[in-house]
Amino acid sequence: MEFFDVIQARKSVRRFKNQKIASDLITRLLEAVRSAPTAGNLQAYHVYLVEKPEMIRALAGAAYDQECVAQAAAVLVFCADGERSRIKYKERGLTLYCLQDTTIAATFGHLAATALGLGSVLVGAFKENEVSLVIDAPPSQRPLLLLPVGYSDEIPAATGRRALDELVTRP
Ligand SMILES: Cc1cc2nc3c(=O)[nH]c(=O)nc-3n(C[C@H](O)[C@H](O)[C@H](O)COP(=O)(O)O)c2cc1C
Repeated sequence: MEFFDVIQARKSVRRFKNQKIASDLITRLLEAVRSAPTAGNLQAYHVYLVEKPEMIRALAGAAYDQECVAQAAAVLVFCADGERSRIKYKERGLTLYCLQDTTIAATFGHLAATALGLGSVLVGAFKENEVSLVIDAPPSQRPLLLLPVGYSDEIPAATGRRALDELVTRP
């Protein structure tokens, strides 16, 4: 897909078919995630690829029983790894850059899913400690976003955006 077609096609998909994702598609998605820019190229994040149904159910429980998590064929858990960034950037790396790295990487995953013909949604509403327990993440990694992925079973409604002149200032 052409870049601006991907941007236009991307919508949050919250209903998925009961269909597995071929492993080569998952690999391409993960490679797209890995290509994301990061502060100082320190890649201060870690991704957990969750495909086991019982773990997906547990993640859905940690995410206030959101159906989009429960129905997903796979859930990527994006965790900030502050220590990786702190080594070079001290406090700013620990409190800001690792969060930005992780969020940008998750966004790349969300867009790549669209380009690969998959649906996904960024999910931020979850209990961090419960998610950490499910994926057995070390305390140094903070779960920031879930990305449930699967074959779409809906045509998501378009969501509005603020007008550019409200959103953008040219000082
Ligand atoms: C940081 C962040 C957290 C989000 N958390 C959730 C969530 O917990 N559950 C959910 O259904 N959607 C979640 N979303 C998706 C937004 O609701 C969605 O992007 C927004 O309504 C715009 O719709 P669109 O993505 O289809 O354009 C989140 C999006 C972002 C960027």
